[in-house]
Amino acid sequence: MENFDFRIPTEVLFGKGQIEHLADAMRPYGDTVLLCYGGGSIRKNGVYDDIQRVLKGFTIVELSGIEPNPRISTVIRGRDLCRKNQVKIVLAAGGGSVLDCAKMVADCAVNDADPWEMVMNPALIHRALPVFTVLTLAATGSEMNNTAVISWPEKKLKKGCKSPYHYPVLSICDPSYTFSVSRRQTAAGSADIMSHIMENYFSRVEDAVIADELAEGLLRTVIQELPKALGDPHNYSARANLMWAGTLGISQITSAGKKGSWSCHPISHELSAFYDVNHGESLAIITPHWMRRILTPATVTRFDRFAEKVWNIQEEDPMKEAEMGIDALQAFFASCGLPSTLREIGIPDDSLAESMTDEAIRMKGFDSAFVNLSREDILGIIRDSL
Ligand code: NZQ
Ligand code: ZN
Repeated sequence: MENFDFRIPTEVLFGKGQIEHLADAMRPYGDTVLLCYGGGSIRKNGVYDDIQRVLKGFTIVELSGIEPNPRISTVIRGRDLCRKNQVKIVLAAGGGSVLDCAKMVADCAVNDADPWEMVMNPALIHRALPVFTVLTLAATGSEMNNTAVISWPEKKLKKGCKSPYHYPVLSICDPSYTFSVSRRQTAAGSADIMSHIMENYFSRVEDAVIADELAEGLLRTVIQELPKALGDPHNYSARANLMWAGTLGISQITSAGKKGSWSCHPISHELSAFYDVNHGESLAIITPHWMRRILTPATVTRFDRFAEKVWNIQEEDPMKEAEMGIDALQAFFASCGLPSTLREIGIPDDSLAESMTDEAIRMKGFDSAFVNLSREDILGIIRDSL
């Protein structure tokens, strides 16, 4: 088990009605708030009205229209609003895109460095406005982590930026706010949750037993609860378990004691950088192909454990058992309505596959991953996924 430093400073208020505590939590930080939100879902599902009601007395400035795969230009728009209005608190209401954008806005408002340079080099972030969040989509875990993922579409760039200043002060996680999430986005968010867990689970560290057992429990939870949420979008219990699985799935709880770089996320980020595709859907497509590519006698033991403990598969031949585990994952994604080819999500051919591969290697590198991926491997995964 590797050394680790465990610190999660974010307070999470989980459950129905927790928004009633938002104003009291925010008041010590000031009374001028930048409310960040996306394309309008919070106006339809009542979250916007709840926020306006509980924050009566606060001055609220709005940054709306934050895109899925949030853009650096929107971060700059938010920064300018903060500076012009002497904003003291950034409040994000939405999914991971809104939360990530808000985190970067909070940095840019009070640091002088160029916004994109800060994304590329978090050491330039020396302080930030306090960030509060109201989560409306179970997926990224941004509500309790230190990451903000920002895109610069004109340059085909997408980058995750980790900073200690990115932990929200407090997150309201009310599962009933996710009742309105579409089937498509519910499934995509869950595929993202599973990917976060699997990226750590498939690592070179074999003896981080607690992390592995927690990972398997979380994976089984998503496998059990997602179909319930798809069948009945107002199933509070299913939504609640998915939401908490999302928060824990990318937290230090499932990575403590493990180490190594991730494999599917760097590829997925380039697919989005070049084609603006949905993050969770792209992961659902490429993950089984990544698994098949790295399944060898050297890795079969971990895949067998995955098959047995996550999918309850028992088969004598280890290689066959491993393949059955991968097949089970792919079939599960399909049964939840997730796409299985990149063509389905708008990537028509492999004309940009080489550029995406080179960028993935330049941005991230794969040399400490579970299995080192060569340039040919990454190209192969993209081409197999088409
Ligand atoms: O924009 P609005 O109108 O709010 O609609 C959103 C958006 O269209 C909609 N939505 C959210 N909550 C809803 C809802 N629709 C109805 N009812 C609700 N309650 O869902 C759509 C997608 O939202 P988005 O925030 O983009 O989804 P997600 O949470 O999956 O975030 C994806 C972004 O997060 C990054 C991804 O790369 C991508 O940019 N990630 C962030 C991470 C992090 N901060 O740690 C890690 C992840 O691996 C990921 O990279
Ligand atoms: Zn992700």
